[in-house]
Amino acid sequence: MSAYESILFDQEGPVAKLTINRPQALNSLNQHVIEEMLEAILTEMNPDVRVLILEGAGDKAFVAGADIKSMLEMSPVEALEFSRVGQNLLNVLEQIPQIVIGKIQGFALGGGCELALACDILVASTKASFGQPEANLGLIPGFGGTQRLVRRVGLPQAMDLLLTGSGRRLSGSEALTLGLVSRLVSPEQLEEELEKVVKSILITGPFASREIKRLVRESSEMSLRAGLNSESTSFAACFALGDPREGISAFLEKRSPSFE
Ligand code: HXC
Repeated sequence: MSAYESILFDQEGPVAKLTINRPQALNSLNQHVIEEMLEAILTEMNPDVRVLILEGAGDKAFVAGADIKSMLEMSPVEALEFSRVGQNLLNVLEQIPQIVIGKIQGFALGGGCELALACDILVASTKASFGQPEANLGLIPGFGGTQRLVRRVGLPQAMDLLLTGSGRRLSGSEALTLGLVSRLVSPEQLEEELEKVVKSILITGPFASREIKRLVRESSEMSLRAGLNSESTSFAACFALGDPREGISAFLEKRSPSFE
C-alpha cells in the first residue's frame, strides 16, 4: 500500500484497487486527488495488473462530484486546467490495457457520474444514485459528461439528466435499465459480485481481454467498416501474440486453460 494523501492504492498480483479516500467530503474530486489517481495508475501500477477496481471509501458515496469548495474561487484559466486534468484521467482509464471496474455503492453525482462512465464495467448496489447536478451550481459537466452520457444513454435521457440537474436522480435499477451500469445487486452482495467479475476476467486470455477493451473503446470513433477491419486484424493477432491454442486445447481436453 502506497502513501498518498487522498487515495489508497493497493495491488496484489493481477488485481489493483484504487480507493478515493475522502469520505468526509463524499470522496469528491479536487485537482490533487485527480493527480494522485493519475500518478498511481501511470507510474505505480504494475504492468502485470489485469484488473483495476475503482471505488470510493465508505458506504455513502462512490464520488459525489468535483470538490465544490475547491471551485469557489476558481479563475477561468484554473477551470480550464481542472477540466482538462479530469478529462485526461478519464481518457487514461479508457486507454489503459487494464479492465477498469467501478464499484458504485452510493452517490455517483456530477464528476462522480462522469468518472463512472469511463469505467469498462460498472457493478452497482441498489443503493447507488446517479445524477448530473452541475447546472444547479451554474456549471456544466467538465469531465466529459456532456459527451459520454449522450453516447451511453441516448439524447432524450442525457438531455433530461443534464438539464434538470438535481431534479433527476437515477436509482440503481433505473441506471441498469438505461444501460448506465451492467450489474446491480444488493449492498450486501456488492463485494461478492465484484469478486465474481474479477475472477471471470482473470480466467480469460490476457491478450484477448486487452484487445476486446481496445476495439470496443475505439469503435465509437470509427466507421463500421474501419472497426471491422481492425477486429479482423486483431483476431489474427490473437494467433500470433495471444494464446488461443491453450484456450482451445483446454476446451477440447475439458480442463481449465492456463494462459501465459
Ligand atoms: C465538496 C462535498 C460534495 C462535493 C458533499 N460534500 N458533496 N464537498 N464537494 N461535491 C460534503 C458536504 O459539504 C458535507 O461536508 C459532507 O460532504 C456530507 O455531505 P452532506 O451534504 O451533509 O450529505 P447529505 O445531506 O447526505 O447529501 C448528500 C449529497 C449532497 C446529496 C450527495 O452532499 C450533495 O448534493 N452534494 C453535491 C453534489 C453535486 O452537486 N455534485 C456535482 C459537483 S460539480 P460538511 O463539511 O458540511 O460535513 C461537478 C463538476 C464536475 O461535479 C466537472 C468539473 C470540471
